[in-house]
Amino acid sequence: MKIFLDTANLDELRRAAEWGIVDGVTTNPSLIAKEGRPIEEQIAKICEIVDGDISAEVVATVAEEMIREGRLLAKIHRNVVVKVPLTRDGIRACSILSREAVRVNVTLCFQPAQALLAAKAGAYIISPFVGRLDDIGLEGMELVRQIVQIYRNYGFKTQVLAASLRMPNHVIASALAGADIGTMPFKVLDQLFNHPLTDRGLEQFLKDWGKVFQEAPAAR
Ligand code: E4P
Repeated sequence: MKIFLDTANLDELRRAAEWGIVDGVTTNPSLIAKEGRPIEEQIAKICEIVDGDISAEVVATVAEEMIREGRLLAKIHRNVVVKVPLTRDGIRACSILSREAVRVNVTLCFQPAQALLAAKAGAYIISPFVGRLDDIGLEGMELVRQIVQIYRNYGFKTQVLAASLRMPNHVIASALAGADIGTMPFKVLDQLFNHPLTDRGLEQFLKDWGKVFQEAPAAR
């Protein structure tokens, strides 16, 4: 499963990029607004930090305007994936942009039938929102499982991007469900490293080493 960061914050992206495990980035209007810079500028900076698919979302709600906005966003950098909401206009914009070879991420997907429409419209990525379904008492991960199954049944090429992941268990469940991509905030990515036995084990290894040797081999 590819790991994407769900942020438009450059410091977070730089820190995570250093680990060498970030395959791409998703942004949305809320995340871009939080950084307070024009979207073209912020997305261009993100593209300098991470070499992978970078989703940039349109804010227009009418298909023709979404298409115009999408074409402009796609020109920022070759890695930009244009994000459109799963509305009638969004699906229409997706069909047209996809035919122009603009890669489209269809976002705000909350049920499998919507994902089927996105695939039919040639979407490059579908984004089911797990956490927001959990928030209203539903089992968000079931949506990811169902979409993966439907796409497999018919050989759709659209990649399933598990979004709105709020905790490490969401990441594990997405991978088990066969999602192509999981996108998560920096905090969740950082949490994936943690296990108390790793810390305890390392402490013991270093203690045992220190009883016999004074320095590390590289320091000699
Ligand atoms: C995905 O592309 C969205 O930006 C994101 O995952 C939404 O997550 P949230 O529900 O935590 O805001």
